[in-house]
Amino acid sequence: MFAENHSLLSLMVRGIYVGIPVAAVLIIMVGRVVFTPNVVNIHQVPEKVPEQNCGPCVVRRHLAPEQTQEQTNSVWANEPRATEPNCTNDLKLLCAWSTDRLRTSVVTSMVFRKATGTAASSHERADFDRGELNKMYESADPRLLKVGIVKLNFPTDGNIHVIPMGGEPYFHRSLRDADMVLDGFLRGDHAPKPGQKWLDFGGSHGRVAQVMAAAYPETSWSVCDPIADTVKWAAAHLPAVSFTVMDQMPPMSGYRDSTFSGIYAISIWSHYSKVPALAWFEEMHRILEPGGLLWFSTHGFQAVNYATLEAAVLHPRREEMVKELYHSGHYYYPMFGAAGDWNSPDGEGGALWGFGAFTPEWLTKYVLNAPDHPWRMEYYGPGANENHQDVFVLSKKK
Ligand SMILES: C[S@@+](CC[C@H](N)C(=O)[O-])C[C@H]1O[C@@H](n2cnc3c(N)ncnc32)[C@H](O)[C@@H]1O
Repeated sequence: MFAENHSLLSLMVRGIYVGIPVAAVLIIMVGRVVFTPNVVNIHQVPEKVPEQNCGPCVVRRHLAPEQTQEQTNSVWANEPRATEPNCTNDLKLLCAWSTDRLRTSVVTSMVFRKATGTAASSHERADFDRGELNKMYESADPRLLKVGIVKLNFPTDGNIHVIPMGGEPYFHRSLRDADMVLDGFLRGDHAPKPGQKWLDFGGSHGRVAQVMAAAYPETSWSVCDPIADTVKWAAAHLPAVSFTVMDQMPPMSGYRDSTFSGIYAISIWSHYSKVPALAWFEEMHRILEPGGLLWFSTHGFQAVNYATLEAAVLHPRREEMVKELYHSGHYYYPMFGAAGDWNSPDGEGGALWGFGAFTPEWLTKYVLNAPDHPWRMEYYGPGANENHQDVFVLSKKK
């Protein structure tokens, strides 16, 4: 009896010991399923983009294989995103990282081959080649000088604009950005040709243009930027590129209609408010030849992902940004105020140049379908610039 009671007691005790943790685990698991919001971990880049998030609804719509460009334009212009069937997005901060990646590294390959006389590695190993070229750049290797690349020694006392490199070596990053730009042009089936004129709009001191000029020396390369000190200094150091100081607002003095075959603008529309954004699209249309391509990167829904990172400049305003993007398709925040960026005062007290963002729908409605200066969209890469800015390639309709 005692033995029976004893074993019953020990069974109960064991049951309590095993049962409590099992029940606790079950409660936690059920709780997670019921209470966890549908938000991806913003500190990790997932291999596969989840179904519901703020970017891919647009991507899926754009990439529908049976849809023509004209149909895509009209859908974006006439249907607000929130009504899109199967897209359950609402004004929530549900984000995922874009999977759009560089497909080519043509510029790095060309510079590598010209400088070393040997074939570059595969696209997958382009970072290795960039590393090798970067070592050559750092040591001012004459083989790079032979292909027209000058090692720049930036003065510490001047107002010479250089973007933050995020820890990446200067020349490595410039090669990678040149690859990113050319990759977009190639998706529009457009590469620089001998005798053509190409422009780096807002090109700072020409860090990307000098790489482009080394890869395509028979094309003429120009840079324009409003920071006069930077432009003057760069013009004295980079003979392969021509430089022009531009105004904050169009028109561009010195460039006639239909001058350029290709224009690229790395992180320029990412700073404009609506008025300069539209005015400069019109001006790009004027100075591009018919069929010419414009590559640019700007903030959009993928930049909301980026803004969820604590270090991101827009972190505290990300909800305001996502709401504005949903409601009007455009968001602007006067990030630099009236003082402007890099000692370039903003003529409108901060209303022209700060933090700008827009959606493809906004672009379609106000830019692509503009009756007097229409464009065709050749490529849209959400987050294709550093998982942060969207990349667009437009061609000027003939
Ligand atoms: C983020 S930086 C990018 C620079 C360059 N594209 C690069 O990738 O190194 C922005 C550049 O735009 C220039 N900028 C300032 N105001 C501008 C304007 N209204 N239109 C075009 N560019 C402008 C700045 O001087 C600066 O060089």
